[in-house]
Amino acid sequence: MNDNSIVIDNDVILSQFYQHGWTVIADFLPENLNRQLLDEARFNADLTPAGVGRARDFTLNRQIRRDKTQWFDGKTAAQQHYLQLMQRLQQQLNRQFFLGLFDFECHFACYQQGDFYQKHFDAFSGRSNRVLTTVSYLNTVNSGGELVMYGADDSVLSVIKPQAGSLVLFESERFAHQVLTAVDDRYSIAGWFRHNNSINGAIDPSR
Ligand code: OGA
Ligand code: MN
Repeated sequence: MNDNSIVIDNDVILSQFYQHGWTVIADFLPENLNRQLLDEARFNADLTPAGVGRARDFTLNRQIRRDKTQWFDGKTAAQQHYLQLMQRLQQQLNRQFFLGLFDFECHFACYQQGDFYQKHFDAFSGRSNRVLTTVSYLNTVNSGGELVMYGADDSVLSVIKPQAGSLVLFESERFAHQVLTAVDDRYSIAGWFRHNNSINGAIDPSR
């Protein structure tokens, strides 16, 4: 597999995303990059219990989510490679759909047995500059840890089993979603393409 394989020139994928606001892209990550990122998440990342929104109350957070995360610092070759791929995807989405995506932020996430993330939205209108959510799965999970995507009427749209190398892409404000309780260890990279919120030339502080 080479880098060209991730260029999304596949009409089916693009039209799926365009029609539904979400899609799953199988084999998005080149295998060697997938392996490097998985090794980094497993052995080198400094994963700490994740926060929720602005609330910093640890007990409350534990009711909502139990994954451990580490934000990218862009210091390793694997992280740089991943960020390049996402920059390419950003350009492609902007060209195709005029989304005005401005930047991208992401973190490693690890769910171990018993960990979950309750049903939630990643963004709320006017309160966030997150436009699109991405989730790259770094290992294939046999049991537990499915991503459940919900429709506007609260119906279950899809139950997605994490598959190494696949990428889920969806509109952050539009889809509630949930991570079911993990059984096997589950490694991923959750990321967000964002609009620029700067006003009057002030720099938009990230996060
Ligand atoms: C998140 C999230 C989904 C997943 O990190 O906000 O919803 O499948 N992740 O890991
Ligand atoms: Mn989410």
